[in-house]
Amino acid sequence: MNLSNKTCLVTGGSRGIGRSICLELAKSGANVIVNYFSNERAAAEVVAEIERLGKKAIKYKADVSCLEQVSTMVDDAYSEFGKIDVLVNNAGINKDGLLLRMTENHWDKVIDTNLKGIFNSSKACVKYMVKQKKGKIVNISSIVGIYGNAGQANYAAAKAGIIGFTKSLAKELGSRGITVNAVAPGFIETDMTLSLLKKNTGIEHKIPLKRVGVPEDVANAVVFLSSEKADYITGQILAIDGGLTL
Ligand code: NAI
Repeated sequence: MNLSNKTCLVTGGSRGIGRSICLELAKSGANVIVNYFSNERAAAEVVAEIERLGKKAIKYKADVSCLEQVSTMVDDAYSEFGKIDVLVNNAGINKDGLLLRMTENHWDKVIDTNLKGIFNSSKACVKYMVKQKKGKIVNISSIVGIYGNAGQANYAAAKAGIIGFTKSLAKELGSRGITVNAVAPGFIETDMTLSLLKKNTGIEHKIPLKRVGVPEDVANAVVFLSSEKADYITGQILAIDGGLTL
C-alpha cells in the first residue's frame, strides 16, 4: 500500500491498536499525528519509531471527548502539515458492568469518548477534507456494536452508534470525495482486553482461524481503507475477528 506523503491523524495512538495503526501507516509512507490522552512518554516513543522509519510525526495531547481540544489539535495539525488526508478514529475506553450496576458516569464516559469523540474529530477534520475535495475516515467500531454483549451496554451502544454514524457520513460526504468506513475488531490482544482474555482462556478454539487477533491485524485493514486502493469503498463495516462472528 502506498501512502507516501499522506498526512494521517490517529486518535489514541500511543498504545495498543492505535499505536500499531500509526506504525503501519508510517511504514506505508505516511506522516502521522499521534493523538494521545495521558501517556506522553508512550506517544513520544511512537513518534521516535516513526522518525526512525524516515517519516514525520508529532504527538498531540487532546481529550477526544472535548470538541474544543480536538478542534485546536486538528487546526494545529493542518497548519503544520498543510493537509489532513486520513483520520483514524481509534480512541476508546470500556467501563463494563451489568445495567443494574452501571453508573450514569460510566454510561456518559463511554458514550462521550467512544461516540462523541468520533463526532468531534470528524467534524474538525471534515472542514479541511471538504476544502481538499478528498479525504478518508476510518472508524474503529467493534463486533460488539453489531451483536451486543452482556455487561457492555454502554460500549455496545457507542460502537453501534459508530456504525450508523459511518454509514450516514459516507452518504453525506461521498460527493465531496471523502470515504468513510469502519472496522469491527473481535478479540484483539491489547491492554483493554488483558483481563477479559485471562478470564476466557481457550477463546481461540471458538475462532475459526484458531487465534486471538493482534493489533497489526486491525492496522493492516485500516491502512488498506486509508489508501487509494480503497477509493471505491465507502460506508462499509469490515469485521476483523478471525471469523468469530460467522
Ligand atoms: P487501549 O486501551 O490499549 O487503547 C485505547 C487508546 O485510546 C489509548 O491510547 C487511550 O489513551 C486512548 N484514549 C482513551 N480515552 C481517550 C480520550 N478521551 N482522548 C484521547 N485518547 C483516548 O485499547 P485498544 O484495544 O488498543 O483499543 C483501540 C480501539 O479499538 C478502541 O476504540 C476499542 O474500543 C477498539 N476495539 C478493541 C478491541 C480489542 O479486542 N482490543 C475489539 C474491538 C474494538
